[in-house]
Amino acid sequence: MAKENNNNQWMEKISSLCKRRGFVFPSSEIYGGLAAIYDYGHYGTLLKNNIRDAWWKEMVQLRDDIVGLDSAIFMHPTTWVASGHVGGFNDPQVDCRNCKTRFRADHILEEFGINADKAPLEEINKELDKLRAENKLKCAVCGSTDLTPAKVFSLMVKSNIGSPTEELKEENVVYLRPETCGGIYLEYKNTLSSLHIKLPFGIAQVGKAFRNEIVARQFIFRTREFEQMEMQYFLHPSIMKEKYEMWKNIRWKWYLEYGINEKEIRWYKHAKLAHYASEAYDVEFNFKSLGGFKEVEGIHARGNWDLSQHSKHSGVDLSYFDEKTGEKFIPHIMETSVGLNRLVLMFLDHAYTEEKAPTADGKEDLRVVLKLDKRLAPIKVAILPLSKKEELTVPAKKIYEKLKKLFMVEYDETQSIGKRYRRQDEIGTPYCITVDFDTLKDKAVTVRDRDTMQQERIAMDKLEKYLTDKLKQSDL
Ligand code: GAP
Repeated sequence: MAKENNNNQWMEKISSLCKRRGFVFPSSEIYGGLAAIYDYGHYGTLLKNNIRDAWWKEMVQLRDDIVGLDSAIFMHPTTWVASGHVGGFNDPQVDCRNCKTRFRADHILEEFGINADKAPLEEINKELDKLRAENKLKCAVCGSTDLTPAKVFSLMVKSNIGSPTEELKEENVVYLRPETCGGIYLEYKNTLSSLHIKLPFGIAQVGKAFRNEIVARQFIFRTREFEQMEMQYFLHPSIMKEKYEMWKNIRWKWYLEYGINEKEIRWYKHAKLAHYASEAYDVEFNFKSLGGFKEVEGIHARGNWDLSQHSKHSGVDLSYFDEKTGEKFIPHIMETSVGLNRLVLMFLDHAYTEEKAPTADGKEDLRVVLKLDKRLAPIKVAILPLSKKEELTVPAKKIYEKLKKLFMVEYDETQSIGKRYRRQDEIGTPYCITVDFDTLKDKAVTVRDRDTMQQERIAMDKLEKYLTDKLKQSDL
């Protein structure tokens, strides 16, 4: 029977590390929490920002054909009528009448090997009825067979602005954007005319999106408030195939660049496409915490649907005039769309390691270490004086003051050195610097590598260069 609650041991380990070490907290916890909404603590924010910066670097900084945007979350409500979201952005929902747990019907069917992605409601209910008749349809939580038929559930999150009263009047309804690309389509014309760019070109943006997800039990994999990193590439349809392959290639390599193993990702080709789309592939990552391959990114050839729809609904001509060929046309769009929070989970899932390690007294214990790519690690270097004595803390603080101008660094003089190493391992800090009594004589410090635990003696006046080389930020 459907196991929508994918929490396994690995997920528990990751989510408990996230809470214990200040990466991710359940939102509004003191009020009992809010389902599928999370807050990011100090290290989670740093990790998320580093992933976002790595994406931005690849997608904007290193490219001549992509520009950035930061559009508003609230948009004119017609935007979402034109895009088809108001009428059709739904998921099929099934409820357990006994324990009141809510499921996505297509996910239930997926557990039985039935692909019901984008399938019409009648088809989904037919399949559910078949399973019911065979007595296979049971609630994954309480085991009851008393499940409702599938019904349509809108994913759009409503709000209202400008209403003098508390009630949500239809004319004041605005939506929290369900995807960030809507803002890109609406700013396509302004971007084109203000930056004088020519096709093909892309607009990239990172920002919050909101969906009233039915099933919300997968930690930060599927949440109701999340961040997307999207790029919409505007082009003439004649080069769609070529550019689609180019972007598939670029995005695949990005994962490998940041330490993901080729065996851990795969392409999933969508068999059922939206009526306007000509191709859709997902990048899937093999999550240990979710028990298998799950989507992290979508790459979609969307035709000229988006700009045509916004042209039609706004009455504004969004066509492009090619001065070279004299052709006037509505640009087609190739999009890459990835969830930032989902990538946080992916990199944590990939990096989380438990291994045997020697202790100071020659025994062995289990060490938890986040083997994150150094460029993504929240803290790059920790400075740890061996004792709290001033003769060590003063030079250690001097190193800290110097290095913090270059990287995110931490100073820590509490607890034993072994415990401090383990704490830094758990948050993925690539290098720990120990200032010891020998430092006073030889003007050198010990640098410990997170992954190998090897220690090297480095002269203090060479430390900056040593770390800068090791932490090189521009390998792309
Ligand atoms: N503009 C296209 C679009 O939004 P999508 O497949 O619905 O396509 C793209 O979403 C990506 O956004 C997904 O691959 C996923 O990484 C992320 N995403 C979607 N819904 C999410 C949710 N509820 N929580 C976290 N990430 C989500």
